[in-house]
Amino acid sequence: MPGTTVHYPLDVTDERALAHAARDFVARFGAPDIVIANAGIGVGTLSDELADIEKLSRVLDVNVAGLAATLAAFAPGMRRAGRGTLVGIASVAGFRGLAGNGAYCASKSAAITWLESLRVELRGTGVSVVCICPGYIDTPMTRANRYRMPFLMTAEKAAPRFARAIAARRRRVVIPWQMALVSVLLRAMPGWLYDRLASRAPRKPRDVPI
Ligand SMILES: NC(=O)c1ccc[n+]([C@@H]2O[C@H](COP(=O)([O-])OP(=O)(O)OC[C@H]3O[C@@H](n4cnc5c(N)ncnc54)[C@H](OP(=O)(O)O)[C@@H]3O)[C@@H](O)[C@H]2O)c1
Repeated sequence: MPGTTVHYPLDVTDERALAHAARDFVARFGAPDIVIANAGIGVGTLSDELADIEKLSRVLDVNVAGLAATLAAFAPGMRRAGRGTLVGIASVAGFRGLAGNGAYCASKSAAITWLESLRVELRGTGVSVVCICPGYIDTPMTRANRYRMPFLMTAEKAAPRFARAIAARRRRVVIPWQMALVSVLLRAMPGWLYDRLASRAPRKPRDVPI
């Protein structure tokens, strides 16, 4: 029904709640045209701190398993309908390991490859998979950062770009385009040079609650 909004407040790490929400939604409205797995958390971590492994587990739970479960809850109905777009919000942080942000980088890297596997598995079914890798967007998540964020965008400016990427069914897109250029450079950079630059970069605060 156009114009109808329904809410299913849930934790994406709760698979049963997701399955229930998906079943209810599909029964009422049919298979969705678009599902966006956007939920995510970020927190600074130190990779040689045993105390931070708990944070790593939680970040992986939400950013990888939660993303995967959100899409998997709706995928069968969309596959049966033979259409639709599944969207995962990853990050440019998934392209290289940043100092002080290991848990988040690992989670986004895993999200990118998970989405690629999903895309390949669904090839030919009519269901597309879009992986969006944003740079810095001004949201509560980035407001905790105490360093300059290059190419920071407002959510209002970013949203239409996300919408265009989804409509075009882009396999993987980095937003904004300036960050896409940076990530091409980052990915091509040899390890010795990357290590020098990345070890000097500012770090995400470790004291942000998750
Ligand atoms: N901001 C950036 O620069 C940036 C860059 C790259 C990627 N991203 C990604 O973009 C996505 C949105 O982030 P944001 O910047 O909008 O951050 P945000 O302002 O902190 O919002 C995060 C959202 O995720 C939800 N969420 C967190 N844990 C959840 C859980 N276990 N179950 C259900 N919902 C949960 C939050 O819901 P509640 O408010 O109810 O907790 C909130 O709506 C995330 O995946 C993030 O990693 C952000």
